[in-house]
Amino acid sequence: MYKIDTQNVDFYYGDFHALKNISMQISANTSVAFIGPSGCGKSTFLRLFNRMNDLIPGTRLDGKIYIDERDIYDKNENVDRLRKNVGMVFQKPNPFPKSIFENVAYGLRVNGVKDQSFIEETVVDTLKKVVLWDEVKDKLKESAFALSGGQQQRLCIARALAISPSILLMDEPTSALDPISTGKIEDLIHQLKQQYTIVIVTHNMQQAARVSDKTGYFYLGELIEYGDTRKIFTNPEKESTQNYITGRFG
Ligand SMILES: Nc1ncnc2c1ncn2[C@@H]1O[C@H](COP(=O)(O)OP(=O)(O)OP(=O)(O)O)[C@@H](O)[C@H]1O
Ligand SMILES: [Mg+2]
Repeated sequence: MYKIDTQNVDFYYGDFHALKNISMQISANTSVAFIGPSGCGKSTFLRLFNRMNDLIPGTRLDGKIYIDERDIYDKNENVDRLRKNVGMVFQKPNPFPKSIFENVAYGLRVNGVKDQSFIEETVVDTLKKVVLWDEVKDKLKESAFALSGGQQQRLCIARALAISPSILLMDEPTSALDPISTGKIEDLIHQLKQQYTIVIVTHNMQQAARVSDKTGYFYLGELIEYGDTRKIFTNPEKESTQNYITGRFG
């Protein structure tokens, strides 16, 4: 049984054919990196996993996407429930204009959790999980904007994790961060994949090699190659993959 199973996925923005016949299987508790040149469809494909593209008018999906063996585009699918299970972190840290505490508590509150001690416990546990607790424990009531970019990004990861998703999608989560903050998030991804299924889009080849078990190489809307990260980076099947990972184009 796969955690995420996409079968013959085609996706269109109006007339533009952005994803072409993509079938990909992702096992639970693994981390998968999507790589490929700008505009090849990585973010589009990632956003299909929590139906974020539904918000864009004029788009069309063919094929099937199953998460935990449920067809997430079935007309009976509960999209709120899906998005609770499939959290997302973006390129630019985007904390809410609220306190550090309330950023992490947010998802619980909008989901109707009233038990204050449960909320406090979850906020503390989640901040520890993203290795931010020691840095913020004395200023939980301060604005999230008072944190550094790297701290804000870990806070956004905490915000996503607080409502207990099983999948975490990350679209270039470190591209706005300095190398030290990037290293912290990479360490975090290593830890989190024990408990979550992680899909990360990255332009940083070293990062893909460091944090992922499997890598998918996309080019012009096609999944050119998908396999064990070690193999993709040392002995890819396709010349196009080889050219990309060695920096000859892209
Ligand atoms: N909202 C949209 N409307 C129309 N076309 C779009 C939209 N979003 C993306 N596209 C097009 O779909 C293609 C894939 O875009 P996508 O953002 O998925 O690429 P990407 O691989 O994530 O690129 P990057 O590495 O630059 O983030 C591109 O040609 C892009 O112009
Ligand atoms: Mg993108």
